Amino acid sequence: MKAIVITQPGESHVLELQDKLKPDTQRGLQPGHILIRVRAAGVNRSDVMLRQGGYGTNPTGQIPGLEVAGTVEACGPGTSRWKIGERVCALIKDGGYAEFVAVDERHCLAVPENLSFVEAASLPETVLTVWSTVFQLAHLQPGEKLLVHGGSSGIGVTAIQLAKVFGSPVYATAGSDEKCRFCEELGAEKCVNYKTDDFETVLKDAGIDVILDMVGGEYLPKNIRLLNMDGRLTYINSMQGANAQLHIPTLMQKRLTITGSTLKPRSDDFKAALTAEVAQRVWPLLADDRLKTIIDRTFPLAEAANAHDRMESSEHIGKIILEV
Ligand SMILES: NC(=O)c1ccc[n+]([C@@H]2O[C@H](COP(=O)([O-])OP(=O)(O)OC[C@H]3O[C@@H](n4cnc5c(N)ncnc54)[C@H](OP(=O)(O)O)[C@@H]3O)[C@@H](O)[C@H]2O)c1
Repeated sequence: MKAIVITQPGESHVLELQDKLKPDTQRGLQPGHILIRVRAAGVNRSDVMLRQGGYGTNPTGQIPGLEVAGTVEACGPGTSRWKIGERVCALIKDGGYAEFVAVDERHCLAVPENLSFVEAASLPETVLTVWSTVFQLAHLQPGEKLLVHGGSSGIGVTAIQLAKVFGSPVYATAGSDEKCRFCEELGAEKCVNYKTDDFETVLKDAGIDVILDMVGGEYLPKNIRLLNMDGRLTYINSMQGANAQLHIPTLMQKRLTITGSTLKPRSDDFKAALTAEVAQRVWPLLADDRLKTIIDRTFPLAEAANAHDRMESSEHIGKIILEV
């Protein structure tokens, strides 16, 4: 099969289209796994970090890609949920930038009839991440206010929509006026262009209950000051700094909770339970567009390097997808 391989850690040109063995070639499929013929694969920041060697391990030889959509090609021993030919999308550990990928059948979701493969491939990583952090970890309740940093990111556009559907006013930050307009059209009460305005000043009277942050660093003291009593701050990355100053008395006085999570290393059983909850609580929203997919641009699989360049430019709004 054709697949994109990281030939060495580095810039996007290290991504190369190669011939690789199909995942089931040597030992067949693992029990509980199905083989997906990939039609579209989502591109995520994490793929860029992997390619750069940012996780402290050498990614040479790895096939990136954490989410795909396609059709069921084969079902391994002990599987029961899916039939050959069905349209599925899935959260995977890696290997999505390829013509075939094997996945735990419990990590798959049916592609809704009204969605294309490209649209469906944009969903698993962001929806599962937002559900597990904003709703499960930070317990966002209807009526509580959410602030999403990186509002125009793949994660951001999902968080804005889901919070709004479940009854929470949403605020956001983003890096341009165009991105801010987009976030507001999507449902944010107010989006602050952090390059021209100080988000803490603009949002000081908003009364934020929960913050989803991927920026880290100097946002921490601002986040802490913005949060209401009993507020929750949940991290999914620290793109602008892994270390920060915390004013502990404010944390105590407001009874704040600071938490965070990384989805990728969670156990198969955790991901299965999360997928089941998302299937029940979130998936029905796709049928009538209460949750919309936001596709920035698609690239052919062979042009994965251009897709990574686009993501690193941060010019995109929503998701970048590879068509396989
Ligand atoms: N922990 C987890 O389990 C998990 C799972 C999925 C994703 N994530 C993280 O969530 C974030 C969003 O992921 P994604 O795939 O949706 O990526 P993405 O679309 O590329 O989003 C990243 C956004 O962050 C902003 N940004 C980039 N560099 C920045 C910087 N130095 N300072 C401040 N903002 C910056 C950009 O928007 P502006 O131009 O508006 O700044 C960009 O839209 C990533 O950091 C990713 O690693 C974590």
